[in-house]
Amino acid sequence: MTPQVDALYRCYWHLVAHRSEVAEPGAWLRLDWAFGDLLVFNDDGEIGAFDNVCPHRGARFFVGDHGVGPMLCPYHGWRYGGGALKPALAKSFDPEVLAAQTIGRYRTAWCGDFLFVGVEPEQDLADQLGGAAVQLETVSRLITRRRDFHALPFECDWRVAVENALETYHVNLIHGETLASLAMVEKSLVVDGPNLTWEGEVTDKRTLRGLSALGRYFDAAEAYQGYWTIHVFPFAMISSTFGYSYAVQTYFPARDARRTHFCTRLLDGRVRPGAERAVEAFLDSSAEMNRRIFEEDRQICERVSPAYDLEKPQRAFARSEERLRLLHERLSAMKNPLS
Ligand code: FES
Ligand SMILES: [Fe+2]
Repeated sequence: MTPQVDALYRCYWHLVAHRSEVAEPGAWLRLDWAFGDLLVFNDDGEIGAFDNVCPHRGARFFVGDHGVGPMLCPYHGWRYGGGALKPALAKSFDPEVLAAQTIGRYRTAWCGDFLFVGVEPEQDLADQLGGAAVQLETVSRLITRRRDFHALPFECDWRVAVENALETYHVNLIHGETLASLAMVEKSLVVDGPNLTWEGEVTDKRTLRGLSALGRYFDAAEAYQGYWTIHVFPFAMISSTFGYSYAVQTYFPARDARRTHFCTRLLDGRVRPGAERAVEAFLDSSAEMNRRIFEEDRQICERVSPAYDLEKPQRAFARSEERLRLLHERLSAMKNPLS
């Protein structure tokens, strides 16, 4: 890990889940990040973030992406529950040594229904989010459930993947059959410290008509009536079209600088009572479209040469790459974050 990535991991809070994903006792989800796997687990109503590693001999508690079940190690039967580690055949161990066994845990904090995890965060979550906290909280309340979870490693530097997500310059060439159909035109860019919110107007008349017509099925009046996206610095993004669904992306840098642990989730917005059946096919197709868009992004990101210098001073930025420029500026300013 580079010193910069290490500092970003340690000093910032990271958005990792929505409350609805781990709402029931025993619900869990697993994300890859540079410290192994991060486990978000609902321990009898207490939602915590753990290393997915049993302290006995290191077996992983859970494999897969998400599920519901006890945090039980399949190797020798140690379990975690009610805030305590419960070794199998505890009497057969030296009690002092046993008492010293712990599961790695991370700090957690909430912004509305969004869960953030911290390693050694430098500030409170509210301070880190600044003005972005209000809209994040609002958006978090408009989300009802997870529809899709798709972990997809990108074989590229995390900055390549995030830079790609921060500009619309590539949309026509890379997403000609998907995202380009919105014919987005920038409406606003709001800078809240390191967090960037961008709103785009949907200008394709046919697409706009179709999307507007769906409005009667959703309770999304509070959502932006267009394309809205926020970069929650450093490793997360959320985007939505009309608030019908929300795509949440995490871009955790891997230990190997040429790899990014990317994950996209599609979360449903609020559907009006009785309209659930009517929107099912639309939301399923949104999930499919979301996967397709990120597959397109993955392919072009992996085409970026590792020899390209992401820190070179004279990088050219189109107007539609302003957010990318701001990220570049911020990362350049913290080139030696540990010094
Ligand atoms: S490795 Fe988990 S119980 Fe032994
Ligand atoms: Fe893209």
